[in-house]
Amino acid sequence: MTSTLPPPERAGLKRPRIAARTLRTDRWWAGPVWTVLGLTAFLVYGLVRVLQQDNYWVADYHYLTPFYSPCLSASCVPESAHFGTLPWEFPWFLPYALFSLPFLLLFRFTCYYYRKAYYRAFWQAPTACAVREPHGRYTGESRFPMIGQNLHRYFFYIAVVISLINTYDAGLALYGGLADGFGVGLGNLVLIANVVLLWAYTLSCHSCRHVFGGRLNSFGGKPVRYWMWTQISRLNTRHMTWAWITLGSLVLADLYVALVASGTITDPRIFG
Ligand code: FES
Repeated sequence: MTSTLPPPERAGLKRPRIAARTLRTDRWWAGPVWTVLGLTAFLVYGLVRVLQQDNYWVADYHYLTPFYSPCLSASCVPESAHFGTLPWEFPWFLPYALFSLPFLLLFRFTCYYYRKAYYRAFWQAPTACAVREPHGRYTGESRFPMIGQNLHRYFFYIAVVISLINTYDAGLALYGGLADGFGVGLGNLVLIANVVLLWAYTLSCHSCRHVFGGRLNSFGGKPVRYWMWTQISRLNTRHMTWAWITLGSLVLADLYVALVASGTITDPRIFG
């Protein structure tokens, strides 16, 4: 049976009695504060945009925001529904990308890096090293609902499929829907940059690293797997960076499409 005692007590040791919450004198609280601000800002922005159900498609250049891809409601602009739609118009509280957004959220929610970030920033378990946490008990991720964090490896495969869909959307936009010929605008560069960064985040996932390098005693005779594992390991060292950069690139890509779609700005054309 798993002990619920924290490590020192489990080993029969007593913690020193220190009245202060922490003896740290550095700005240990800055990281958690920035995390709360950053994640809250992203979630509020995403919620507002998803519920807006508008300004997600630029008909002239076939830009589709990743927040609405794949567009599945019967009320999606027909050209924006690259994979067809369901027979129903979605009510205001359902995202048009009903089959991708929940899984993308779960992928990030169960991500090893984000877990560390929000355990510290929101749940204060603990807020930082050597800072006393407010919780009296610790059960880790061994019980419901936190044991569900182990599903991350499966959400990774779904995230790969969704990244492929985003890549397809960005590629299609280069051809203005195939019929209009090749062209490049600033929006294309924004969408492509976002897709590249999304791949960097997805492939740097710890589960991805395990897919290529796990359950092996030796890479001998497996040069391709070894090469892949090496590249993924390189990306993996910056997983936190990719996690934050992609939140920014997603907002930037969506905001750009929304501004062009609403006529607030025009898309500078570079070619075609
Ligand atoms: Fe972060 Fe998998 S560990 S996406």
